[in-house]
Parts: sequence; C-alpha cells; structure tokens
Amino acid sequence: MQDILKELEDRRVEARLGGGQRRIDSQHKKGKLTARERLDVLLDQGSFEEYDMYKTHRCTDFGMEETKISGDGVVTGWGTINGRPTYVFSQDFTVFGGSLSETHAEKICKIMDLALQNGVPVIGLNDSGGARIQEGVASLGGYAEVFYRNVQASGVIPQISVIMGPCAGGAVYSPAMTDYIFMVKDTSYMFVTGPDVVKTVTNEVVTAEELGGASTHTKKSSVADGAFENDLETLLEIRRLFDFLPLSNEAELPVLETNDPADRIEMSLDTIVPENPNQPYDMHEVIQKIADEGDFFEIQKDHAGNILCGYIRLNGSTVGVVANQPMVLAGCLDIDSAKKAGRFVRYCNAFNIPILTLVDVPGFLPGTVQEYGGIIKHGAKLLFAYAEATVPKVTVIVRKAYGGAYDVMASKHIRSDVNYAWPTAEIAVMGAKGATEILYREDLNNPEKIAERTKEYEDRFANPFIAAQRGFIDEVIQPHSTRRRVGRAFDLLKTKKVPAINKKNDNIPL
Ligand code: HXC
Repeated sequence: MQDILKELEDRRVEARLGGGQRRIDSQHKKGKLTARERLDVLLDQGSFEEYDMYKTHRCTDFGMEETKISGDGVVTGWGTINGRPTYVFSQDFTVFGGSLSETHAEKICKIMDLALQNGVPVIGLNDSGGARIQEGVASLGGYAEVFYRNVQASGVIPQISVIMGPCAGGAVYSPAMTDYIFMVKDTSYMFVTGPDVVKTVTNEVVTAEELGGASTHTKKSSVADGAFENDLETLLEIRRLFDFLPLSNEAELPVLETNDPADRIEMSLDTIVPENPNQPYDMHEVIQKIADEGDFFEIQKDHAGNILCGYIRLNGSTVGVVANQPMVLAGCLDIDSAKKAGRFVRYCNAFNIPILTLVDVPGFLPGTVQEYGGIIKHGAKLLFAYAEATVPKVTVIVRKAYGGAYDVMASKHIRSDVNYAWPTAEIAVMGAKGATEILYREDLNNPEKIAERTKEYEDRFANPFIAAQRGFIDEVIQPHSTRRRVGRAFDLLKTKKVPAINKKNDNIPL
C-alpha cells in the first residue's frame, strides 16, 4: 500500500513540475508566475481540485511520442473565490509553450461542459504559443470545440479570459467570445497575425507590444476590458470582479454584507454640478458616492472615457452602472461609447444585474468621422440594448439630457422603471443656444436678441419640470438623497417580471 501511495505522490510531483525547473525559472525571469502559482493566487487557499493531471497527448509525429508531459500543457479543475465555485483552466507555458493539442483542448472542454451543466463560471488563464504545431489539424479541431462551447455558455455562465502571455492566431477567438478579457501589462499580447506576417503582407513594421499589447487592446481596439501591472495584481482584480457576478443566469446575485447605511446622505452631491452648464465635473465621484463603501469596479476604463461602465453594490447587492462622463467629449455619445455601453447593458441583462443609468449627455457627437463610421448603426446598439433589457432599470438625470441621447439613455419611453432627475437637470430637444439660432434665424445678426431668446428658452426648458409634468420623470430628487432613493427603487424592483416575447433571436444592429 505504501508503494502505491508513494507512486501517486511521485506522479503528482512530476506533473506539478510541468516542463521542468529550467523552463519554470525562465517563466519567472520574464516576471510571470507559473500556471499553478497563478491558480494559487486566483483561488481560495487549498480549494483547488485538479482534473486530468495525468493526461498526455497522443501525437506520434516529429518524435512527439518521446516527449509526453503529464497534464499536456494545461492545468484544469475547479476551486472557490471567496467561497463561491468556479471552473478554471490555466495554460502552462513550460510545456510545449502552452500550445493547444487535441488532448489539451479536451481538458478545457471537459471543465466547460461541467461548468455549463452545473451553472458555474469558467475562468481561463491564457499563456500559449497557439495551435500545437506538431499536431496540425487535430489542434485546430480542438480550438473549434472550445469555440463552440464558448458560444453555448454565453449568457448562461460568466466566462472570463485572462491573457497572461502570448495569445495569437485563431486562438484569440475563444477569449473574444467570452464576457471579459483582462491582460497583464508588458507580458501579454493578442493578435490574429503577428508582426512578421504583418510586415510581409502590409509592409508595416510594428512590435508585438504595439500590435497587440495591453495598451493597444485597452485603449485603441477595446478588445480587452482592462489591464493590470503584473500577474499578481491581475489575478487579485479578477477575484474582485468575480465577487460582483452571479454564478449563472439562473443564480441569485451575490450579496456582500456592508456597514454602509442604505440611507446615507451625501451632502456634497448637492454642489457637485457646477453653476456653469458647460463646466465638467467627474462622474466617477457621483458613482462612488452612491455606491456601498465607494467601491466601483470599472470595465474598459481606458476606452471611450465619455461613458463609464462598471459594477457597484447597493445594500450589498450588485448593480451595473452606465454613466455619461462630462469630463470627456462633454459626455457626448459616439460610436465607441455606444458600443461599449451597449455590450455592458446586454451583459447585465443576461445575468439579471439591475442597471443604474446616470445621465449627463449633450447629444450625439457630430461630424463626418462619426457619420462615416456608422454612428447611426452603432448608436442604435445602445438604444436597442436598453430597450430589450428587462432587468430593473433606474435612471437619474443629473444634468443634460438632450435630443436623441435623452431617449437612448434609459428614458421612460424605452421602459426604464424608475426615472429620477436632480433639480439641475435640463431635458430638451437641444441646447438653448442651438435651439434659439434655429428658431430665430432672422435675429442671427442681433446678438442681444439672440441672448434674450436663449435665456427665454433656458428658463422654459433647462429644468426637469416640463418632463416631470408629463410623467417622463417620476420625481425630482435631492441629489444628497440619491443613494437612498435609488437603493429603495431597486429593492422594490426585485420582483419585477416581464413576459418574454416568443422569437428566435432579435436582430441587434451588429
Ligand atoms: C508547439 C511550441 C509552440 C507551438 C511554442 N512552442 N509554440 N510548441 N507548438 N505552437 C514551444 C517551443 O518550441 C519551445 O519549446 C517552448 O514552446 C517555448 O517557446 P519559445 O519560442 O522558446 O518561447 P518564446 O521565445 O517566449 O516565444 C514564444 C512564442 C513562440 C512567441 C509563442 O514560441 C512562437 O512564435 N511560437 C509559435 C507560435 C505560432 O505560430 N503558433 C501557431 C499559430 S497558428 P522548448 O522545448 O524549447 O521549451 C494558430 C492557429 C490557431 O494558433 C487556430 C485556431 C482556430
């Protein structure tokens, strides 16, 4: 018996060593943790249960039968994050560069199938040289099996991808179909074709970092939802995000105990909106003052800064926030912000996360860049997402709500449930000056008259009461009481039910 136990232990030790100490040292030298060290940080201590530790590849080409390493380049299983379960896979770069073989894919597929069956999220830690070159088409098939499962699981269980090394070729499409992608600065990159191919085909000279590093994907392409300094910080932030998310689309939202009183008054909100309507203020501050303990997990913070998206808690329960940010492009909606927020709203809806919308929007951003880029279609994404969302929706108009953007930003008309306005709200077809110049074109050469008419228009429309008279606003609230009012609204909406319309899928303007 002792021998058998020892053999088991020896096999485990060997498997845990992956591609060997030399390659582990090389991983560390690059500032990266190993696949197993990463799981130690991500999961609660001692909670990881590993599957398929002894699985090896079946390839016999290129002398591969001589090199079989237990686990075949990916560590899979499940564990807990603050007590709640998640399935995980963590690619081991020390074994064939973490490349994906047929058996490597089978391991990932196994935990994905279990995750979908059991209603538990999947977190994938990606660090891989792509398809296992020695296996050819078998590994392509393996990728496609993963892709298919990504789509089946979409909207059913949260899927989070963390890019912690190379991720290239078609391999990028599994992360691309998951809900969130986070990257590690300086040590991770994603691209469909690498710098060498780019040079050959387009003659562009570009480094891997410029082409697909964290900065590129968080700022320019918006492929990634965030990036952090190193492996440790990234994994700790994933733990933080995980705490906001339900385990599946049928699970209750997690509730975190809080000492922050639900009726906390925040007097500073009464003066946060400047006297001058053209002066910006930081919408982050409004969000943080409403949130439990000021905790806001922001998604895509380096992209389309004119809209803020992320998670807070109210009374301990998760709420998704979408908010115009007057500090960037005066808070205008444009292509990037509509796409960013549209996707966020759809995610919240899929996972029953209520949505709080804070509005300060002067309209859609004008210009040829926007029109040629398809703002009509992209702007419609956000409108569509809000209108189809059946989760509880509460809207607070903080300042401007002009034109089509008023309709889009979770207005009553597209079925927001509770719509509040601060006394500083201005709800109108357009800004007073623009409106006056159209209505009184004949007075354009008379600045005094225009100023007088503008003042008239402002007095009439630069307030929330015309909309409130029509019932488009349920109540004009004191800014200092926003946390209490919004929290109470969401509490009441917990039992909201909207009958589903029978259709195969909608046709959101992609
Ligand atoms: C097999 C691989 C491999 C791969 C790396 N290795 N990639 N083995 N298949 N795809 C092995 C190396 O032979 C090496 O083995 C070890 O992993 C580490 O690789 P290094 O090159 O020494 O590391 P580094 O210098 O850090 O470079 C990492 C890298 C590079 C940039 C990822 O290895 C690379 O370019 N690999 C090939 C990438 C690629 O072309 N993949 C196929 C893409 S096509 P030893 O034994 O020396 O440690 C694709 C299609 C997917 O993925 C389509 C899905 C639909």
